[in-house]
Amino acid sequence: MLPRIKHLTKTLTPRLIEIRRHLHSHPELSGQEQQTSAYVAGVLSSSGLQVQQQVGKLGVVGELPGQGSDPRLLAIRTDMDALPIQELTGLEFASKQPGVMHACGHDVHTTVGLGTAMILADLAKELPGNVRFLFQPAEEIAQGARWMVDDGVMERVSAILSLHVFPSIPAGSIAVRYGALTAAADDLEITIIGESGHGARPHEAIDAIWIAAQVITNLQQAISRTQNPLRPVVLTIGQISGGRAANVIADQVQLRGTVRSLHPETSAKLPEWIEQIVAGTCQPYGARYHVNYQRGVPSVQNAPELSQLIEIAGQEALGREHVQILTEPSLGAEDFSLYLNHAPGAMFRLGVGHHTKPNYPLHHPHFDVDESAIQVGVMTLAYAAYKFWQTHYTF
Ligand code: NI
Repeated sequence: MLPRIKHLTKTLTPRLIEIRRHLHSHPELSGQEQQTSAYVAGVLSSSGLQVQQQVGKLGVVGELPGQGSDPRLLAIRTDMDALPIQELTGLEFASKQPGVMHACGHDVHTTVGLGTAMILADLAKELPGNVRFLFQPAEEIAQGARWMVDDGVMERVSAILSLHVFPSIPAGSIAVRYGALTAAADDLEITIIGESGHGARPHEAIDAIWIAAQVITNLQQAISRTQNPLRPVVLTIGQISGGRAANVIADQVQLRGTVRSLHPETSAKLPEWIEQIVAGTCQPYGARYHVNYQRGVPSVQNAPELSQLIEIAGQEALGREHVQILTEPSLGAEDFSLYLNHAPGAMFRLGVGHHTKPNYPLHHPHFDVDESAIQVGVMTLAYAAYKFWQTHYTF
């Protein structure tokens, strides 16, 4: 089967490059992926899949029925949205949309998803079960996965696979991670409410700025003294506002930040822990407070069996030397985790780094991929999907 998948991928590659360049020239922001989703739906239906549009707002679902009796359903998820960045690559197929750019490689993800769908459609007779392709909108604002899940895309799904490009891994290689891949990312808003007064008479007021400064310091120190250093928590206050004049004591300060963590048990306790520290800091001085802790996305926890499926498929398809095992997770976030509340899954990293040119990070206006990575992604994903049916994972 592998030689057949390799041959099909090779034949398909010029078409895939064309698709990727089309998507790259026509990026759309999160929640506005009208053209992209219509384009994706068109490619999927012309490849023989049953297509549903407007799932999870602008998401697309392609169903590929296999020919056998395996009741399991395998899902493959990619994302389609771009970022509010002005592209500076100077590529001939650079973004035609001012201020919008595929700077996170979702054009490559969509292309790899489509390529995998085309190849598996060719092999449908040898697939003992069904495959469902999910093309989600709005990953960058961490909403799309939620919309898709709310529309029922995870019903009956047994396992789900996904990928993300990575410029620090050279094209030709992939990287696999066992366990935590990305962090839980939550939003934090703290309001400190004191009492205004004359800047010269602090004893008659409650200085919200001074207390806010202590809240920030106490939170950072408390992390280092009360959180297990082997279970990281990163708390960044990125925005602070309060006060009206240099000689007036501020009655209110607002702090906004992001909280990242890797272990679900740690994540679960964070809202209460933060509130205790804020309360303990305000209480002696008579300040009031309000803590608004909003859950964002949980940590992506790859299922070991599925990481292994990708690792072995990658080793056979690309060669052992082209499959790295990641020893560390990232504290970035990915809404793929929301699908994992419903079925086990794994996301791998697709190397897109140029071998001879400098590589820019994700979300950079010069970000550019080595397009040879597209066939690597398609081959790995199509072969992993094929091999899934030879496993007996029932989860
Ligand atoms: Ni991304």
